[in-house]
Amino acid sequence: MSVEKVFGMSVSGSLSHVWPASARINDDGALEMGHVPVSELTSKFGSPLYVIDEDLVRERARHIRDTFVEAAHSVGAQAEIYYAGKALLTAEVARWMYQEGLRIDVASAGEMIIAMAGGVPASALGLHGNNKSPEEISRAIVAGIGSIVIDSPFELERVALAAAAAGVTQAVRLRVNSGVHAHTHEFLATAHEDQKFGVSFDIAEDLVERIREHSHLEFLGLHCHIGSQIFEAGGFAESAARLLELHARLSVAGTVPELNLGGGFGIAYVDEDAPLTIDVIAREIVDTVKKTCDSFGIPVPTLVFEPGRWIVGPAGITVYTVGTVKSVQLNDGRVRHYVSVDGGMSDNARPALYGARYSSRIANRSSSVPSTLSRVSGKHCESGDILIDEAQLPGDVRPGDVLAVAATGAYCYSLSSTYNAIPRLPIVAVSGGRAREIVRRETEADLLSRDLGVVKETQ
Ligand code: LLP
Repeated sequence: MSVEKVFGMSVSGSLSHVWPASARINDDGALEMGHVPVSELTSKFGSPLYVIDEDLVRERARHIRDTFVEAAHSVGAQAEIYYAGKALLTAEVARWMYQEGLRIDVASAGEMIIAMAGGVPASALGLHGNNKSPEEISRAIVAGIGSIVIDSPFELERVALAAAAAGVTQAVRLRVNSGVHAHTHEFLATAHEDQKFGVSFDIAEDLVERIREHSHLEFLGLHCHIGSQIFEAGGFAESAARLLELHARLSVAGTVPELNLGGGFGIAYVDEDAPLTIDVIAREIVDTVKKTCDSFGIPVPTLVFEPGRWIVGPAGITVYTVGTVKSVQLNDGRVRHYVSVDGGMSDNARPALYGARYSSRIANRSSSVPSTLSRVSGKHCESGDILIDEAQLPGDVRPGDVLAVAATGAYCYSLSSTYNAIPRLPIVAVSGGRAREIVRRETEADLLSRDLGVVKETQ
């Protein structure tokens, strides 16, 4: 079967672009990923599980880094990429990113220690968040964190205090609300922001002056993040232009080496999703930055980005086993098949949280039975535990079938829970035709391990 490559996704007769580039249907009609049949993975590692294609993650990390670096070079500037660890962070994933030349953006002390446990030096990490505790701040500084994004006036003092106590000069950015919000292909620009992140434009100049006055702080530049799952470049470009106006004013009193535009680049979850390629987005952002800098007569700063979803999302799938299938007669005369799987909202909270849509297919066999109106539901005691509201699945789906859901590499493991005391899934990495667990399945013993009320066996 010929698989035409879009970037990191596959387009073929039977697999749409939402599936990883390394996924294909083999001669038995079963789904393979990275040359490993998916149903072999459930036999070996149990069900359900997350599968991530290491080679594809690495390729996407390199691709997004090279794309921004080349775009920046074309206007005589530099670019730097921080992988947004919140999308999917394990020690191993952190190491892949670092080995591919990315830094890592961490949102808590927990994410920081996972990245460091993967061998990533603290100097390659950036810490952000709207309410970092004083302990998190000082731990990060003592560990030698590369940079901290300051999110409020209070935090400015906390970071300065911790840096002074540690006797170091801490590199910091200031998060500013650009007033631009974006989602998929729309963006909204407002003058005033009513949200928990960052500081407003009117106090930013003052705060930068305070940062510059502190001998233990070094000002790197402004930071913003306009949203997530964005398909077009307009919102990023608008936000960059707004920030550069402030950046230019700040450049009068001292150097401002960087501009951090955050993450948010979207991916396809369902066939209709058509995000612009990262190459087109990078070009448009960099062109706007160059024009704006020229109009202010300032040099183009180092451009910093923090993609998460774009790198890992399309490289991961979740594999379930079908447990029951029920037919429900609808009022309009149609019949809906409820296909219940052995996971659900605890391993993928996104449909319930955001109404997120996904694509699925039977992974262990082919079927010539036409697809029928189906709904993929989880096993949790909650009627909202629906993974795919309208799935196209063959009418002969039956218990024991293996069902794969595409594009679950981002924000599924990281948002997972133990709701209904269902142990969390392992992550299996495939690479070069081989599969290995990079996170093991949670056990029932793990579930009990923090419960201090457990009856102790008497000796
Ligand atoms: N930088 C900052 C400051 C962020 O807040 C985020 C995401 C990113 C970078 C990475 O954004 P990405 O490239 O992954 O879109 N749980 C939601 C997404 C929340 C994103 C929060 N911030 C979801 O599952 O859709």
